[in-house]
Amino acid sequence: MLIVQISDPHVKREGELLYGRIDTQGFLERAVAHVNGLDPRPDIALVTGDLVDKGAPAEYANLKRLLSRLEIPFYLIPGNHDARDALREAFPEHAYLPRAGFLQYVLDDRPLRLIALDTLVEGKGHGALCSERLDWLEARLGESDRTTLLFMHHPPFDVGMEALDAARLLEGGERLEALVRAHGNIERVLCGHVHRPIQVRWAGTMASIAPSTAHQATLDLRDGASLSMTMDPPGVALHLWRPGASLVTHLSYVGSYEGPRPFR
Ligand SMILES: [Fe+2]
Repeated sequence: MLIVQISDPHVKREGELLYGRIDTQGFLERAVAHVNGLDPRPDIALVTGDLVDKGAPAEYANLKRLLSRLEIPFYLIPGNHDARDALREAFPEHAYLPRAGFLQYVLDDRPLRLIALDTLVEGKGHGALCSERLDWLEARLGESDRTTLLFMHHPPFDVGMEALDAARLLEGGERLEALVRAHGNIERVLCGHVHRPIQVRWAGTMASIAPSTAHQATLDLRDGASLSMTMDPPGVALHLWRPGASLVTHLSYVGSYEGPRPFR
C-alpha cells in the first residue's frame, strides 16, 4: 500500500494569493498533478490540515475544485486554519466525516488501519485533544490490534523551533503519549502544521511531519528564533507499506529538477 500525505495547502478563494503574494492554489494544482503522475500511483491521499487559510466556504469550494482532480481517494482532517462546519458542508459526499462534532474517524478497509484525530481549537493556532476526543481514540485502539497509522495536524512533540513548539499540541499530549505507548501496533504518527519534513522517535514509535505543498517554515534552530517562511521546494510524503516490513517514508519534491540521468 502506498499512501501520499499532502499537507498544509492553505488554499484561498479562487485567484486570491496568500499574504498577497503566494499562489497556494497554483502550488496545490502542481502537487495534484505530481501525485497523479506518480508511478506506482498512491492508493490514497491523506490531507493533513490547514486545507484552507481562513476556514471560509469560498476557500473550501476552491479546495474542492482543486482536489477533485486527484485521481485517487482522499481523506481530510482539519488544521488550525480550518473550520469544522464549513469543511464538512463543502464535502457532504465524504461520508467518513462525522456530521457533527469533532472530525475524527477510522478507515478500516485498507491494509493498514488509519485513525484520524481532530486537534483543532477553533480560533487558536495551537492544538488540543480533550477527554472526549481521547476517550474516542482509546475506544478505537481497543477494537483492533491491526497495524495502525494515526494522523493529526498538530505534532504532539517539540521540533526544536521555538515559535512552532509554542503552537503544537498543547493539551492532551500526555494521555495521547500514554495511549500510543500502550499500543505497539501504532506504526507511525503522521502530522502537518510545521511546514517542514521532520522525523522523531516519540511514545515508543516513529512520528513524522510532511512539508507544505506551498510555503515552508524557515529552518532556524536558534533559541528565540522568530517564525518566518521560506520558499524551499514544496513536497509530499510517500508512505510505503509492505506486509512484514515497517513503514518507509520518502519525501517527493514537487517541481521540475534536472534528471533522471545515469550516474556517469
Ligand atoms: Fe499550515
